[in-house]
Amino acid sequence: MANEDVCSYKRAGFFDSKIRKLFQNPNKILSPYINKGMNVLDLGCGPGFFTLEMANLVGESGKVVAADLQEEMLIKVENKTKNNHLKEIIKLHKTQKDSIGLSEKFDFILIFYMLHEVPNKRKFLGELKNLLKNEGKILIIEPKGHVSKENFEKSVRLIKEKGFKTSKGPKVFYSYSIALEKITN
Ligand SMILES: C[S@@+](CC[C@H](N)C(=O)[O-])C[C@H]1O[C@@H](n2cnc3c(N)ncnc32)[C@H](O)[C@@H]1O
Repeated sequence: MANEDVCSYKRAGFFDSKIRKLFQNPNKILSPYINKGMNVLDLGCGPGFFTLEMANLVGESGKVVAADLQEEMLIKVENKTKNNHLKEIIKLHKTQKDSIGLSEKFDFILIFYMLHEVPNKRKFLGELKNLLKNEGKILIIEPKGHVSKENFEKSVRLIKEKGFKTSKGPKVFYSYSIALEKITN
């Protein structure tokens, strides 16, 4: 698989396994960033490994937009929420390869193992900036091994060029991690 290829929905099981929870626990990773009532975006949500925990954290007064390029991934998220209260909190959104296609503003955006799949990162980061509230945060996590240190550092340079302030993200098993905020003055 080339670095920028989109991870097929046929591999969704790999990203949704019970074992993954042991070393990438969604609550541990996300609870410092998400509070009740927030409007949050899981961009490149895949089968929803993080989406459901995001919905638990924002609660009934909040909203989660689960966005993915692949309809099949969104159907997997929908199936998980069909028979419970989370379906009121989670809204599904299908993106285009070259456009996220959302206009609302978010308190928090998660981009987990997805940035390396975006061919035009410059355009993507510009669009992302418009989706973030001034006081909002973005968390980008990328897989070590699959993404080289050099390529991750290249993305970080681009992130800074696009006017984001960066800080250390949470520790995530075998991953690069960075938190982004807008520079507002
Ligand atoms: C490796 S999976 C990770 C899924 C999930 N974030 C996780 O960690 O379990 C990457 C996901 O990003 C999605 N994706 C890739 N490019 C995208 C884009 N431009 N817009 C939205 N989703 C995208 C893919 O369809 C895939 O579901």
